[in-house]
Amino acid sequence: MKVQAIIDDFGAEISGIDLKSAIPDDTFAALHEAIDRHAVAIFREQFLSSEELATFAQRFGPLEIPLKRDQYGGVDPRLTMLANIDDDGNLLRPDDKHAVYMKGNLLWHTDSSYKPVPSKYSLLSAREVPVQGGETEFADARACYDDWSGPYGETTKEELEKLICEHSIIYSRTLISGDIFSDKEKAQFAPPRQPLVRTHPRTGRKIYYVGSHCSHVVGWPLEKGRALVRELTGFCQRPEHIFAHRWRAGDLVIWDNRSVLHRGRTYDPAERRIMHRATVAGDGPLT
Ligand code: OGA
Ligand code: MN
Repeated sequence: MKVQAIIDDFGAEISGIDLKSAIPDDTFAALHEAIDRHAVAIFREQFLSSEELATFAQRFGPLEIPLKRDQYGGVDPRLTMLANIDDDGNLLRPDDKHAVYMKGNLLWHTDSSYKPVPSKYSLLSAREVPVQGGETEFADARACYDDWSGPYGETTKEELEKLICEHSIIYSRTLISGDIFSDKEKAQFAPPRQPLVRTHPRTGRKIYYVGSHCSHVVGWPLEKGRALVRELTGFCQRPEHIFAHRWRAGDLVIWDNRSVLHRGRTYDPAERRIMHRATVAGDGPLT
């Protein structure tokens, strides 16, 4: 197994391992450690089937159950489908309801922070990719925590440690997709509260747990909290702490939602982009 770092300890391309094979425990432990250290790991030419993706992902722990909206086209019920096609495999028009919903991925975010138990790892497997565009970008939220010195108004960096935020997919989708959820969905997505500062249980590194789903700070005036969240999400995006992954079919990319923010980039809607995601559930509620 060879680990080629992308930016110091952020991002790595890992080669010399076939993720379809029966990986021995000690090799898996080394792989897991490399993923924690680099927070994003890229594996080329894996071409995992749905079954192989789910099987490999489960080595990291039980999987999250995908949202109803993210389940279509007969994809394995353990996986999330990210694709610009409909149930019958036809290309979606950009104004299609589902295409509009999918625009949420264009905003910097961390997966499932709007769920009471947010996810640990996301494993995204590329089936079909556009010739141009459609990259996924990653930002190092650990460096954001380390380097942001504050204060924010009268609030010191130390005081931020105690803040709690509300995370909502209704809020984040409203920012880019408009008012798309039914009353039933709105009731289902009651926004959980998450600490602003999270400590990674395996590395001990801290992050500001922000991104698009992070709506506001509990107990602060709404706009003041939103401005703080925008400041911290923006600080994560310093160019030297970002890289873009340019997809090839067969790639598997794993990222740690406790360490990075990510977003998808646009592409020509006349091209097909089909990705499957397995999402490893977190250990429990954070607050
Ligand atoms: C995701 C995601 C972005 C992309 O899979 O969670 O945000 O580039 N993907 O598809
Ligand atoms: Mn995502």
